[in-house]
Amino acid sequence: MATIFSGIQPSGTLTLGNYLGALKHFTELQDDNTCYFCIVDEHAITVPQDRLKLRNNIRSLAALYLAAGIDPKKSILFIQSEVPAHTQLGWMLQSISYMGELERMTQFKDKSADRETAIPANLLTYPVLMAADILLYQADIVPVGEDQKQHLELTRNLAQRFNNKYNDIFTVPEVSIPKVGARIMSLQNPIKKMSKSDENEKGFISMLDEPKRIEKKIKSAVTDSEGIVKYDKENKPGVSNLLSIHSICSGETIEALEEKYAGKGYGEFKQGTANAIIDVLKPIQDKYYSLLESDQLDTILDAGAEKASIIANRTVVKAKKAMGLGRVK
Ligand code: AMP
Ligand code: TRP
Repeated sequence: MATIFSGIQPSGTLTLGNYLGALKHFTELQDDNTCYFCIVDEHAITVPQDRLKLRNNIRSLAALYLAAGIDPKKSILFIQSEVPAHTQLGWMLQSISYMGELERMTQFKDKSADRETAIPANLLTYPVLMAADILLYQADIVPVGEDQKQHLELTRNLAQRFNNKYNDIFTVPEVSIPKVGARIMSLQNPIKKMSKSDENEKGFISMLDEPKRIEKKIKSAVTDSEGIVKYDKENKPGVSNLLSIHSICSGETIEALEEKYAGKGYGEFKQGTANAIIDVLKPIQDKYYSLLESDQLDTILDAGAEKASIIANRTVVKAKKAMGLGRVK
């Protein structure tokens, strides 16, 4: 039995990449572990947000977590900003974080590179808040997609640094990256990761795309002119990406799929891939819409924040004591 923590930003509807790279694995972990799943809204404000859209996205993400199979009887689902301990510990950890190491984070470099406006300070300190998220719950394992590996390495460094400098209070977490699905690529540019912020909507499949739209997007996915369904990431990135997606969605191995579509061309292969995706997403979508209309969501989120606070506050007390903040009580 391990403690698991992971978070997703409420910054627009999740993609198939988020589902296959993150959410799907979360649901598989909850039977045998203590799981915390967080809607990290404080991370979302490191980029400009519209307040009403952000509110909607928070609620929508909560419903998606549940629709995808997160069971509130087994897991603790909560909103980051409803547990103040996250920013408290985040601030404390900033004193042992170095500007240099934060500036080296590739996500910071990417997100700050193409900005015309000034860079907000919390875009830089974002990974420290992520470390706080994880360390508050003494998480053993953090399941994420590959793009978060560097942030997890920083989290481990900060935990060790704090433990050595002050007091040994933090569990040093391990990252868990799925063997398949860790990096679902864009349908239009398969050497780039599938992302909900892609300007070209054809590049990603949203978890809430209607079946017809999914079919259309898969049919227009970039492949190659060879006409052979074969996994070869280097030379056939488009086909390989579709094969990975198909394989995870339908549960068939890549080899079995290569055999199934041998000599059949891309038309049939794409139709099969679209069907496999629809079979996975349609039931999630149905559940999502019924959850959004119920008041169950608020009850679950209230209970989640309450449970998470109890554990998180304990860690904050320990960290304050270790650093000498406040008074002795
Ligand atoms: P984000 O949408 O950046 O908040 O990511 C939420 C989770 O989904 C993280 O664990 C990411 O690593 C994962 N993720 C995001 N995009 C992809 C993708 N294209 N393939 C696999 N996992 C992804
Ligand atoms: N930074 C992560 C992302 O963009 C989201 C995140 C925030 C997270 N806090 C976390 C993921 C803690 C895992 C654990 O995807």
